[in-house]
Amino acid sequence: MTRSLDYQPGFRNHFSSEALPGALPTGQNSPQRCPYGLYAEQLSGSAFTAPRHRNLRSWLYRIRPSVVQSAYEPLAMPRVATAPLDQPAADPNQMRWDPAPLPETATDFLDGLLTVAVNGNADAQQGCAVHLYACNRDMTERFFYDADGELLIVPQQGDLRLRTELGELEVTPGEIALIPRGIKFQVRLANGSEAARGYVAENHGQPLELPELGPIGANGLANPRDFQSPVAAYEEIEGDIALVAKFAGRFWVTRLDHSPLDVVAWHGNYAPCKYDLACFNTINTVSFDHPDPSIFTVLTSPSETPGTANLDFVIFPPRWMVAEHSFRPPWFHRNLMSEFMGLVHGAYDAKAEGFRPGGASLHNCMSPHGPDADTFEKASTAELTPQYLGNTLAFMFESRYVFHPTEAALDADFRQRDYVDVWSTLRRHFDPTTR
Ligand SMILES: [Fe+2]
Repeated sequence: MTRSLDYQPGFRNHFSSEALPGALPTGQNSPQRCPYGLYAEQLSGSAFTAPRHRNLRSWLYRIRPSVVQSAYEPLAMPRVATAPLDQPAADPNQMRWDPAPLPETATDFLDGLLTVAVNGNADAQQGCAVHLYACNRDMTERFFYDADGELLIVPQQGDLRLRTELGELEVTPGEIALIPRGIKFQVRLANGSEAARGYVAENHGQPLELPELGPIGANGLANPRDFQSPVAAYEEIEGDIALVAKFAGRFWVTRLDHSPLDVVAWHGNYAPCKYDLACFNTINTVSFDHPDPSIFTVLTSPSETPGTANLDFVIFPPRWMVAEHSFRPPWFHRNLMSEFMGLVHGAYDAKAEGFRPGGASLHNCMSPHGPDADTFEKASTAELTPQYLGNTLAFMFESRYVFHPTEAALDADFRQRDYVDVWSTLRRHFDPTTR
């Protein structure tokens, strides 16, 4: 095994990496014979004819091509749902969940997935699914790829080592990882972590990209150089290996007699990556009011309607609050877009309590939400000195498609069934005689 945790900086750069010197062909992609007797295989994450700025493909030089596998057999994974196959009724109720409990029996990343909400249509490459993961065991003899979408992994507790065809990534809470559609990988616990928990957005739509910056200019928000992709690393082992595939909402398994992590060299712009959210250059008001949270967009998956995302990944990171004569927390609002939120650590400034690290909330299209009563009272009378929100890292998966919560999420013991009551104590302040 050639193993390295070196990274290549940049977002969707045309990377080149080889674990053996000279393993990458020069001057062409598929020579008559590849160096070291490797097979050339192209992995395309876009249609061949996608516009150049959205065209995603990598060339992999591997010990055996991916076709060397048995027939696919169905695999039961009842905790994972996909739209439209398993789409339950949508629900306008505001919902909130405590952190999901960590598993008590040996559970790997795949078995530890639990779908909370689905939307869109995976077969039509629209929408997304939101999963939680909680695991305490490495994936060892099995690997996974997702034909239904790319996976945006947001760790909340515990470090993960993502062993992918294109190399290895380690992620810790505060970082995110992006595994493109179709890339084979395996998840292990890292750095002494005995358990891990977090969130996954499975994006069926256009691959996530950096948002346009408009008048912000050339720099700001997530800068491309802070994304990191792995360097080539391969293993040559033989044995009874399972490769699990998620395809059109169902799981399948095929058997291999070797590790699928046998890519010795690769080049291209279709690769996993990770990003430290602390690198996010947060931009906010320096005068008054609370800008729309779109100013905190890290990555966006566009839909066919300009400016209306299939999926946005938005964060609420540590930042200064300096707005004058303003209500500083998020305002009360109703929104076309549907919002799933999670909390990596600390507290979120719209809620006094109840939204805990590892927990989640869901506010669907046009369902009203905003600060709870305690937060409203405090923020309406607070002295508006500059304030640093240091201990916070919340995030949002926001989609133009209404989220359909799964039965498992609705029935979960850790769902807060009285969530709507956080607004029930908002008092009437109206007095027509006093402006
Ligand atoms: Fe909202």
